[in-house]
Amino acid sequence: MSPSPHQHRNGSAGDSAEGRVITAARLATMRDRGAAATDDEAARLGAIEAAAVAVRDGRIEWVGVADGLPRAYADWPRSPAPGPLVTPALVDCHTHLVYGGSRAAEFEQRLSGVSYEQIARAGGGILSTVRATRAASREELVRSAAARSAHLLREGVGTVEIKSGYGLRIDSELEMLRAARELGELLPGLRVRTTLLAAHAVPPEHRDRPERYVDEICEEILPAAVDEGLADQADVFCENIAFDLEQSERVLRAAADLGLSLRMHAEQLSASGAAELAARLGARSADHLEYLGPAGVEAMRRSGSVAVLLPGALYTLRETRRPPVESLRRAGVEIAVATDWNPGSSPLGSLLLAANMACTLLGTLPDEALVGVTRAGARVLGLEDEVGTIEVGRRAELLSWPLEDPVELCYRIGGQPTPHRLVGDRWIDCGELAAEAVRWS
Ligand code: NIG
Ligand code: FE
Repeated sequence: MSPSPHQHRNGSAGDSAEGRVITAARLATMRDRGAAATDDEAARLGAIEAAAVAVRDGRIEWVGVADGLPRAYADWPRSPAPGPLVTPALVDCHTHLVYGGSRAAEFEQRLSGVSYEQIARAGGGILSTVRATRAASREELVRSAAARSAHLLREGVGTVEIKSGYGLRIDSELEMLRAARELGELLPGLRVRTTLLAAHAVPPEHRDRPERYVDEICEEILPAAVDEGLADQADVFCENIAFDLEQSERVLRAAADLGLSLRMHAEQLSASGAAELAARLGARSADHLEYLGPAGVEAMRRSGSVAVLLPGALYTLRETRRPPVESLRRAGVEIAVATDWNPGSSPLGSLLLAANMACTLLGTLPDEALVGVTRAGARVLGLEDEVGTIEVGRRAELLSWPLEDPVELCYRIGGQPTPHRLVGDRWIDCGELAAEAVRWS
């Protein structure tokens, strides 16, 4: 790989030890829920006008109206935001960013009428990416993931979750996670959280005895990933073309016993009760949820699991069922939005486009979608005390936009301006962070 001009530690790019005061015409702190919670324009997204944020060692020490800045910070040097609107850096809490190959040919097949499930049952789909991923070197996996990361960095993503699931045997699953960890170390400003998704599909060598593969996940793959410190979370694709409820429960219980937090691909292609299982096991999230019914909503309300909406997959598969957004909202289930970037069901390289699709296709309000790509995404990853809002104690991962109204961020269908990001004491064009990722590709 080409040499990097400057290498930073993951997620703490250039934190400056001395304090600074950031000033901005408007902060969208993401502390409050948004339009659904209040009609008061000024309170939407926890907005603060004519604001100041005191930052030391990369953490927020004070935030409020600039006129009320305490004397203690009065002499700190100032870094005015270059644009009127400041938000937290974005969080993409569900991706499959590390993979080999491409599935463009399947796109054509689907357009001529073959379904996603038919392709999967014929050995294509996820298994076609498994073949390409197993054949790729770790360096190839890191390079191609770096190229994809550039698109996310450019639009202001500061944290991304990356799943395994295209290895489906111990060596390749661990290689995928190592590639994801390596990516986080190479790229300044991209915090990577990893998720073991060995239970993504039954590998061809276990086609006639899926239980053996479930044993292997529980007894070998999960413990090895945890031993090597490669996984922060575990996920299962609970679906008729993947793992049933019982198998999913075994994997998730084994993961929980090893201290991992839990996620689940649930109710994407059929109603299965997967979300209820996720809730019963205390999963941080259930993701997709096109076929989620009232019992699943109620179970998620009780468990506090976040509903992760992935409109890119619904769009790509031309799914006509919608996740029950209105019921989730009424129940007070927190909603996150993510790209699900993967080569098959969601080749979607923009989190802001995912937010737009959540509004237009799924019926979230703009404020819900924006909380979904910041605060709620952070909660899904267990990072709610670190990122996703502009609050005292959180990291000062701030974006400055040449926009007045945060709704612009999800109203446009692409074409948002590139934000600046606070790195140490400077506002850096996110295009520069993207260019650095491209150099690693
Ligand atoms: O989130 N649903 C299962 N997993 C992915 C699809 C992966 C693929 O098609 O390669 C998803 O949509
Ligand atoms: Fe997914």
